[in-house]
Amino acid sequence: MTDFGRKTVYQVYPKSFRDSDGDGFGDIRGIIEKLDYLKELEIDYLWITPVFISPMNDNGYDVADYYKINPQFGTMEDMDELIRECDNRGIGLMLDMVFNHTSTEHEWFRRALAGEKKYQDYYIFRDEPEDQIPTNWQSKFGGPAWEYVPSLKKWYLHLYDVTQADLNWENPEVRGELKKVIRFWKNKGIKGFRFDVINVISKPELFEDDLEGDGRRFYTDGPHVHEYLKELTRDTGIEDMITVGEMSSTSLENCIRYSGRKEKELSMCFNFHHLKVDYKDGDKWTLMEPDRIALKKLFETWQMGMQDGDGWNALFWCNHNQPRVVSRMGNEDLYWKESAKMLAAAIHMMRGTPYVYQGEELGMTNAHYNDISQYRDVESLNYYKILLDQGKTKEQALKVLAARSRDNSRTPMQWSDDKNAGFTEGTPWIEAPENYKEINAETELKDPDSIYSFYKKLIALRKEKDIIAEGTIEFLEKENADVLAYRRNYQGEELIVLNNLTAENVTIRQQPEWKVYQKRLGNYEKITAEDGKITLRPFETIVLDSAL
Ligand code: GLC
Repeated sequence: MTDFGRKTVYQVYPKSFRDSDGDGFGDIRGIIEKLDYLKELEIDYLWITPVFISPMNDNGYDVADYYKINPQFGTMEDMDELIRECDNRGIGLMLDMVFNHTSTEHEWFRRALAGEKKYQDYYIFRDEPEDQIPTNWQSKFGGPAWEYVPSLKKWYLHLYDVTQADLNWENPEVRGELKKVIRFWKNKGIKGFRFDVINVISKPELFEDDLEGDGRRFYTDGPHVHEYLKELTRDTGIEDMITVGEMSSTSLENCIRYSGRKEKELSMCFNFHHLKVDYKDGDKWTLMEPDRIALKKLFETWQMGMQDGDGWNALFWCNHNQPRVVSRMGNEDLYWKESAKMLAAAIHMMRGTPYVYQGEELGMTNAHYNDISQYRDVESLNYYKILLDQGKTKEQALKVLAARSRDNSRTPMQWSDDKNAGFTEGTPWIEAPENYKEINAETELKDPDSIYSFYKKLIALRKEKDIIAEGTIEFLEKENADVLAYRRNYQGEELIVLNNLTAENVTIRQQPEWKVYQKRLGNYEKITAEDGKITLRPFETIVLDSAL
C-alpha cells in the first residue's frame, strides 16, 4: 500500500465541532466554515465520525441508512460541498464506516423483525428459548450481549448497545451490501475510510460461554477477519486509499497482517493498549495513575514489532472515546502547555501516521463535570448505574466518570472566548468546560509559542524530513520509568527524541555524539546539559538532529 508516513490526519466529531445554524448541534456546514482553520494547520486528511441517518443512541455509530445524511448534520448537498471544499484545499475527506453492526432502526433489521428470513440472515439470530441466553457474553457498553425478541422467539447479538445489532459477515449478501456502500462514497470523491471496530466482525462458528472473560476472546481478530478485509478492499478498489481500522483488544501479530503492505487489507491500525495503562487490573472503571513503564514497553513493543513485521501504526492519544490526554498523562494545572507539547512530540516523532483529535492541538482538557445531568454518553450513563449498583457512592461514581467518560472528548470545540466557546449561538447539546476563556483557538493562533503552533510545527516537520516517515526506530533509556526516549535513523542521519513524562526534573546520560547535534524542536528555551548529562525539566521534550 502507498505510504502515509508524511501525512497527518485530523479527526472531527461533527456533533461537537461547529454549529452553523444555532440548534446546539454541530453540523456539516459548521465543518465547511472551519476548513481554512484545518488548512492552516496543514493536515492532509480529515476523518469525520458518522453523519448518516441514525437514531443517535450512540451518536451516529448506530447507522440506520448508510446512504443518507442525518438532517441534524445537514443534507447530501452539504456533504457534496464538504467534499469539494476539502478537495479545493488539498484535504482528503475520510468517512467512518460502521460495519460491525447497524442500528435496529435500519431497514434490514426492521424487515428481519417483521419475519423476513432473508434479512434475519443479515444479523446473528439464535433460537434458544427465552429463559436460556445463548452465551454469557457481555456487551461492551455493559449488560448482556444478547437481546430476546418475543415476537420471533429468537435472540440477537449486540456486542455494543442493544440498539446496535451485529451484522452477519458470514453471509456473502451482507458483504456485498457493505461493498456497495464503499463504492457509493468512493464515487462521490471520498478519499479514505476509517472502519469502526473492524476486528470483531468475524464471529466463531460455535457460540459458547466464556468462562474466563466477557466473550471477546472468541470474536476478537476472529477466524475469517483477514479474508473478509482482503475481499472488501479488493472488490471496492480501495488498496491505494488511506484506510484505518479501529482494532479492539487486538494483537501485534494481527495488526502486522491488517496493515502489512503485501496483505492489501488496510493501510494502518489503531490499537488501544497504550491507553489502558491507567486501568486498574484492566478495568476502565477503576482508577489508577498511569503505569509509565507499561506505557513505554507498549510503545516499544508496537513500534519495534510493526517495524520488524512491515506493519504500519496509526499514532494517537485522543479520539472521541478517550479522555483528554493532557488531563490524563500530563498536568493540566501546573504544566499544561509543557505537558501538552511533550505528549504531542512523543508520538509525532514515531514511525507511523499521526492523528490529531479536534481540540487536542489547543490542549483541550477533560470536562470536569460534577453532576450526572451534565453527561450525555450512553456508556457513561449505563456505567453510572452499574457503579452505584456495585455499592459506590454518587460522589465516587462521579469521580470515576470525570476521569473516564467519553464525554470528556465530546465537549464543544473551543474556538474563542465567546459564549459557548464560539461553538454555537444556541444552547449546546453538551456543556463546554469553563476553561474555554483561556484555552481556545483564537488566542492560540496568535501565539507562536502556543500548543497549536507546536502542533503546526510537528505536522510541517513530518512533511519536510524524510527521516520521520522513513527512518528506523530504536528505544533508549529503556529501564528509566520517567523518560520516553528513542532514536530515529535514516541514511546516516539521526534524530534523538527525549521526553520527560513527569513533573520533576530528570537527569539522563548524554551520549557523546549528541553534543554536536542541534535542537530541532523543544518546549523549553535552552537545553540544560553539563558533565555529560542532560537534565530534562518537567515534561520537557527535546528533538536533537544530527543533520542540522
Ligand atoms: C467504536 C467507536 C465508538 C462506538 C463503538 C460502537 O468503538 O469508536 O464510538 O461507540 O465503536 O460502534
